[in-house]
Amino acid sequence: MNKFASALCALGLGVALVASVQAATDEEKIIERIKPAGSVCMVGDDSCGGAAAAATASAGGARSGEEVYNTKCMACHGTGVAGAPKFGTSDWADRSAKGMDTLLQNAINGINAMPPRGTCADCSDDEIKAAIEHMVNSAG
Ligand code: HEC
Repeated sequence: MNKFASALCALGLGVALVASVQAATDEEKIIERIKPAGSVCMVGDDSCGGAAAAATASAGGARSGEEVYNTKCMACHGTGVAGAPKFGTSDWADRSAKGMDTLLQNAINGINAMPPRGTCADCSDDEIKAAIEHMVNSAG
């Protein structure tokens, strides 16, 4: 009876071991299978390969000043809402006399009714700057 019980016990242990080994190899197989899709590639990382880096740059690269202006700034600067310097007018010639550094700082931090970053929370400083240049260049 005792012998039988320990044999059963050993058998049970054996089954459990086999099952866990099996689970481990399945897991490895799964990791191996999903690896190519889940590999992380940073911009500028050599392991990405040139094609991947180029794709990243064109898909998620900086927006042009015109794009940022059209989507984020035009709402106010297109018509001059709340005293906003109006696109395509001498308003911008007056503003640009302050110098780009000042304009950029004021656009980033906000000034009077001008909200910080013109409400474009995900705009980089360079994108904000490009949008300002687009508006300054429009000055008639
Ligand atoms: C909610 C309206 C609004 C939006 C949106 C907006 N602006 Fe403005 N902006 C203003 C107003 C109003 C002023 C005038 C502030 C003042 O000088 O009293 C202004 C002024 C500015 C100035 C001049 C700052 C200075 O020092 O004279 C810059 C540069 C500027 N905005 C850039 C931007 C850019 C870039 C965007 C888009 C990313 C943007 N704004 C979006 C309302 C807006």
